[in-house]
Amino acid sequence: MASRLAGILLVAGCPLMVAGATREPPWGEREQLTFIREHWKSPLSPQGEPPAAFAPLEASLGPESCGACHPAQFADWTGSIHAASMGPGVAGQLVEMHRSDPTQAQTCYGCHAPLAEQRPGHGGYDSGLTARGIVCASCHVRRWERFGPPRRDGSLESTAARASLPHNGVSRTPAFLRSEFCRDCHQFGPDGLALNGKLVQNTFEEWKASPAAAAGTQCQDCHMPDRRHLWRGIHDPETVKGALDFAVARDDQGITLIITNARGGHMLPTYVTPRLRVSGEMLDAAGEPVAGTRRESVIGRVVTLDLSRELQDSRLAPGRSARFRYDAARPGGGRVRLRVVVEPDHFYTRFFEAVLERGAGAGEAEISRALDATRRSVFTVYEHDAPLRDPRDVRAGRDPY
Ligand code: HEC
Ligand code: HEC
Ligand code: HEC
Ligand code: HEC
Ligand code: HEC
Repeated sequence: MASRLAGILLVAGCPLMVAGATREPPWGEREQLTFIREHWKSPLSPQGEPPAAFAPLEASLGPESCGACHPAQFADWTGSIHAASMGPGVAGQLVEMHRSDPTQAQTCYGCHAPLAEQRPGHGGYDSGLTARGIVCASCHVRRWERFGPPRRDGSLESTAARASLPHNGVSRTPAFLRSEFCRDCHQFGPDGLALNGKLVQNTFEEWKASPAAAAGTQCQDCHMPDRRHLWRGIHDPETVKGALDFAVARDDQGITLIITNARGGHMLPTYVTPRLRVSGEMLDAAGEPVAGTRRESVIGRVVTLDLSRELQDSRLAPGRSARFRYDAARPGGGRVRLRVVVEPDHFYTRFFEAVLERGAGAGEAEISRALDATRRSVFTVYEHDAPLRDPRDVRAGRDPY
């Protein structure tokens, strides 16, 4: 009995012994999730006093300071949507909200400018830093300690004594490579706003149910490929194109465009704010649209401006297709222009228009700029002039396509 027990203990002890005393902590799944919970405990605590040995550059939370030694990440981040998260649309609303509903205003910072130093009324508040949005330190610095992913070879240890490295070196953890790291800002909690039984922000859960998650593909693998800090998504034509497959099917009565979310990692689009407009219209012999022949449908989750009702949810789950049918058998055949236009900020176009109509007070100028930006972000992701089957060919049993 005693010897059998010893045998079991020895086997059970093996993996721990192999892991070795030098690897600390052992970053199992549980430790990683605990790390993430602490790292994003909201609201974030102030950094406090920087270590006395820090030079001014190391003791700065400004993204330019990080950029002095990390120029590649800084260049990527500068053009990213995370860097623009305190743009005029958010700032313009906050100006008024600070007067009308200060409690609600505070909640916005949690996702749009999450450091304590970015929140009005908190110690070390720096309005300049607030305007910079989701800065490097939001994800990488807590109480002046730098956190980051494992090196690309998977190693975690410092190659030199930490005190000898800039900013006391780095605490590395595989938690940075997990989707959970992105969850808190891209997923409402179970009590968050829901319409028609579905949370208004549900990206993490959609991802968890996706084939991508089953294959181990994390948010970072798609949105930070090669560790780039670009976070491209619905605003980027190449990213949207890369996720979709298009196919055209012809029959005697018309034409069908089949749009498939072939490589996405969640609903396409995941939020209620973008929409895809799918259209078809006949072209005349000169290639000009024929008046009165345009038909249109929408892919998206359309909600009322006051977020009280869902009007439609035709988003594409990963692997799912939308079929756009254009009935147009005409004598002599002809061509149909099929088009898919992406409006990444559709909800905000309507929303900012309504805000301006009502009067945006001190935020007027900024909201106007934000409205312009939502109109400029529209792009065409697919366009194809498809010949219809000519009824004479159909009757004669010919298919020239
Ligand atoms: C004076 C130069 C300097 C400044 C300023 C600086 N860093 Fe670093 N950083 C380094 C060096 C050098 C390393 C590599 C340390 C090592 O080898 O362990 C590093 C490593 C890192 C890593 C780990 C990445 C990796 O290569 O694996 C992260 C994350 C990081 N820094 C974030 C930041 C952030 C965020 C800021 C600004 C708040 C910042 N750093 C400011 C020099 C700097
Ligand atoms: C749980 C995280 C979260 C909170 C809290 C949050 N937002 Fe956002 N916000 C997002 C995300 C993610 C997006 C991008 C997706 C989208 O457009 O729906 C966004 C987009 C926006 C946009 C459109 C983009 C832009 O820069 O113009 C505005 C405006 C905005 N939020 C305002 C607010 C305001 C005002 C509050 C507070 C009342 C707030 N948000 C609270 C996560 C959040
Ligand atoms: C929204 C969170 C977020 C922000 C903001 C952010 N990072 Fe990162 N950073 C990450 C994550 C996550 C990784 C690991 C990505 C991966 O391995 O796929 C990372 C990796 C890194 C690395 C290691 C890169 C490598 O090649 O090994 C450095 C250095 C770094 N970040 C610096 C910065 C700097 C500098 C800024 C600001 C200019 C910044 N980060 C902004 C989340 C962030
Ligand atoms: C501190 C909160 C926060 C964290 C952490 C965060 N995000 Fe975001 N993210 C936002 C907000 C807010 C926006 C919208 C900003 C805006 O439009 O004003 C956004 C926008 C985006 C977009 C939108 C791109 C588009 O085209 O609209 C992508 C993609 C994205 N984030 C991916 C990630 C990934 C991947 C991670 C984890 C590595 C992550 N985010 C972590 C808050 C966050
Ligand atoms: C398999 C690749 C893949 C994975 C995994 C993935 N995404 Fe995306 N994501 C995309 C593509 C492609 C788009 C652009 C099309 C779209 O909007 O769905 C996108 C768009 C977005 C957007 C833009 C807003 C919108 O309405 O679509 C956000 C925010 C976002 N992703 C966040 C995340 C987060 C957070 C995770 C992890 C929980 C994640 N993504 C996982 C591929 C991926």
